Amino acid sequence: MVDLHCHILPGIDDGSPDMETSVEMAQIAAADGIDTAVATPHLSSGNPLSPEQIRTATVLFNEVLQDPQIDLTILPGAEVEARPDLAGLLKDDELLTVADNGRHLLIETPFVGIPQFLEQMCFELQIIGITPILAHPERSELARRCPEILEKLVDRGCLLQINVASVLGQSGRESRRLAIRLLQTGQAHILASDAHDANFRPPQLSLVRKELERMVKNIDFQMLVDGIPRSIIA
Ligand SMILES: [Fe+2]
Repeated sequence: MVDLHCHILPGIDDGSPDMETSVEMAQIAAADGIDTAVATPHLSSGNPLSPEQIRTATVLFNEVLQDPQIDLTILPGAEVEARPDLAGLLKDDELLTVADNGRHLLIETPFVGIPQFLEQMCFELQIIGITPILAHPERSELARRCPEILEKLVDRGCLLQINVASVLGQSGRESRRLAIRLLQTGQAHILASDAHDANFRPPQLSLVRKELERMVKNIDFQMLVDGIPRSIIA
């Protein structure tokens, strides 16, 4: 499986605080059957990282995972704050795409508020050949109050990423309900951990498989955790 969204790099954002935790997270991910994880530290005005910092931290962490050997490959990425000028920032090399492949951008869906610029922002990215992936929309006011906007964005080719924790109900009943609905209606494309540590939000994907297969008729779990994310990093 491929985990497309996790905060596994040590000491770079509000995710893993240190190398010990990062290694523990990597062990958990590998034991869960995840062979590749995209490290997606927050990249925002509050956490202004440079793409180069993330690339370097990824190389270092992969080296650490060689000994003792943990079968997990980390690819560079970022969870980018939603802002009207994302296309411009990307052109100026201030953002990092998923797996640094210049094709997909993981964007944090604002928890509160319905940004007027969202549709235009996605459109401008698509014009320069970037597919926006909205991270955990099920936790947003947008999905609660304006599901039609999300639907429109999906129709236009944006991808939606759901959190495992939301399916488990750890982000509240409403997020769980919205996650299931987005999966049921075929609007969600990716299931990821959004892991921040080894205990409370660990990098595991398989633990919701049975639950989703029970809740969502005809769900293709493998497609959500492997098929689509693997094609994105390819
Ligand atoms: Fe995240």
